[in-house]
Amino acid sequence: MCGIIGYIGDQPANEVIFDGLTRLEYRGYDSAGIAVLDGGRIVLAKDVGKLRHLREILVTNFPSRASPGIGHTRWATHGRPSSFNAHPHGDCRGTLMVAHNGIIENYMKLKRALTAAGHVFQSETDTEVLAHLIESHYQGDLEAAVLKALADVEGAYALVVLHRDHPDQLVCVRKESPLIVGLGRGEQFIASDVTAIMQHTRQVVYLENGEGAVVRRDGVTFFDLAGRHLAKTPTTLDWNPVAAEKGGFPHFMLKEIYEQPQVIRNTIGGRTSEEEGKIYLTELGLSGPDIFRTQRIVMVGCGTAFYAGCVGKYLIEQLVRVPVECDLASEFRYRQPLVDGNTLVVAISQSGETADTLAAVREARARGAKVLGIVNAKESSLTREVDGLVYIHAGPEIGVASTKAYIGMLTAQVLLALLLGKIRGVLDTAFVQQTIRDLKVLPQLIERLLADTSGIRALAEKFKDARNFLYLGRGINFPTAMEGALKLKEISYIHAEAYAAGEMKHGPIALIDKDLPVMAIAANQGAYDKLVSNLKEVQARSGTVIAVASERNEEIRHVTEYVIPIPDCPDILSPILSVIPLQLFAYYVADLRGLDVDQPRNLAKSVTVE
Ligand code: F6R
Repeated sequence: MCGIIGYIGDQPANEVIFDGLTRLEYRGYDSAGIAVLDGGRIVLAKDVGKLRHLREILVTNFPSRASPGIGHTRWATHGRPSSFNAHPHGDCRGTLMVAHNGIIENYMKLKRALTAAGHVFQSETDTEVLAHLIESHYQGDLEAAVLKALADVEGAYALVVLHRDHPDQLVCVRKESPLIVGLGRGEQFIASDVTAIMQHTRQVVYLENGEGAVVRRDGVTFFDLAGRHLAKTPTTLDWNPVAAEKGGFPHFMLKEIYEQPQVIRNTIGGRTSEEEGKIYLTELGLSGPDIFRTQRIVMVGCGTAFYAGCVGKYLIEQLVRVPVECDLASEFRYRQPLVDGNTLVVAISQSGETADTLAAVREARARGAKVLGIVNAKESSLTREVDGLVYIHAGPEIGVASTKAYIGMLTAQVLLALLLGKIRGVLDTAFVQQTIRDLKVLPQLIERLLADTSGIRALAEKFKDARNFLYLGRGINFPTAMEGALKLKEISYIHAEAYAAGEMKHGPIALIDKDLPVMAIAANQGAYDKLVSNLKEVQARSGTVIAVASERNEEIRHVTEYVIPIPDCPDILSPILSVIPLQLFAYYVADLRGLDVDQPRNLAKSVTVE
C-alpha cells in the first residue's frame, strides 16, 4: 500500500524520508520516490522496484543536506509500476511536487480539461492531475491553491505538497486516506503511518477527514476544506515499533478487519461512473466477442478465495444470467475439467502464489479457456499466467487468516458482474447506477458496524469454550456461513461446520443439542422465511442460535437467543457486510482463548506447495 512522508527541519530531508520509507516497506510497494527543495530548485529521484534502487540514486546524485522534502512508496492502481508513474508528481513548470495516497475518481475528466488548457502530463497516474490542478489555481498562496484544487476533486486522498516558492512550508490534506502530522522541536513530519516517523517524535496529530495542515519548521496550523482554522490536540504515542506496524491494534488480523471500508473504496475507486452507469475494469483482457461467447463461468480458488468465488456464483448467475460453477482449485486441476473456448475461468487468489490455483489456471488455459484473475498481490505469479486481471487493491495482508482480501474479492466480483451483465444486455443503466451508489455507501455501513463491537466480544466470551459450532445460511448467505466457519476453526481451533440451512434436516440435525451453538446468517431477505423455519427446528431441539440479522429485524429475536445486528443493505451486497461480525467473532474467541491470532498453528500465509 502507498506510503507518504514529508519532512521540514534541519536534518537532511532525504535521510529522514528514506529511513521512514524503509519503515513502511512491510506494507508493500512497487516503486518509490523522494523530492527535496535545494537552493530554490526541486530535485527529484524516483525508481521502480525496491528502495535499494532509490538508495543508489540518492547516494550518488542527490543534494545531501536539503530540506524540506517529501517521499512516497507506491502500490500501483492507475498505471503500471514504472519510474514515470512513481510519486512525487510535478506540474508543467517544475514548481511543485505532490505525493498522494488514495484514488482520484474523476481524474479522467479533470485530465481532459487540464490537457485542453495546455497542461502536459508525464505519467498515467491519477495523482499527476492534482499537481496540475494546484498549478492552475496557484496565485502565490499554496494553501489556497490546494483548497481550490480539491474543490474540483472527487475521491479519496492523503496528499502532501512541496512548492519551490515556499521553502518554509509543506501543505498536506486528507480525505478518507489516513495522514498524521508529527510534531518536533524546530522540525515537523508528515506521514501516512506513524511507523514512518515514530523514531523522531511521539507527539502526533491525527488529521480527520477533510482536514489539512500548513507545516512549518517552528509550528503547524490546521485548517478544514473551507479554509477555516482548526485547533487540534496532539496525542502522545506510547507504542513500540511492532505495535506501530499494527497501527495500535493488538493483532494484524484486527487491523485488517478495520481496514475493510478502505479496501472497498480502493477496489471500486476510479472504476465506476455513477453518472453513466458504467464500470471500467481496464486490465480485464476480455473483448466484447469474448464476453458474448462465454457460455459458462467456472470460479476456482482455495480456502477463503474459493468461498469468495461461491458468492460470485450467486452474483454472476443473478446479474449476468450465465451458469456458474465453483471448483476447488485442488480438485479442478486433476479431474480433466470440461472447459473450452466458450468457458471463462475466474481464478481468485490473495497471494497469487497458491500452487493449486496456479495449476488450475494452467489446466484451464491448456484446454482453451480464457482465464481471468481476481488477485491482490501485484506482480505475483498468477498475474503473469492469466489473460486478464481485476486487482482488488486490498494492500498487504499479514494476518494468516484472510479477511480484507475476502472483502476485496467480493467487491471486485460485484464490479465484474455489473460489467458483464451490462454488456450482455441483462442489466439496465439505472440498476448499475443504483448499485454503484449502494457500493459507495457500504464503507460507511461497515464503519458503523465496527464502531461498537462490544456485543460480538461479549458473545465470544460466552461461547469461547464451545467444542463445536454449526454455521447455517441459505442462498447467497451460504458461502458466508462457510467462510465464517473457516475463520473460527483456523484461528480458534474450534471445530466448525457450515451447512446450507435447508440441508440441515437431511443429517446434521442429529447433532443439535444444548451444547452445539448455531450461528445463522439471516442477513438478506431472499430465503429468509425458510431460514427462520430452520432455526425453529434448532430451537425445538434445545439448540442455541446466534443470528446475524438486519438491525431492523425485530422478529428474529423470537426465534434466536442472540442477535448480532448489522445495517441494512441490498441483498447482492449483503455478503460483504454479514461476514464482518463472523470475522470479529472468530478473532475475539481466538484472542480470549489466548491463541496466536496472526500465526495460527500449522498454517502458512501463502501455500506454494500442493
Ligand atoms: C483462510 C486462508 C486460506 C487462503 C487460501 C488461498 O483464511 O487464508 O484459506 O484463503 O490458502 O490463498 P490465496 O488467496 O492466497 O490463493
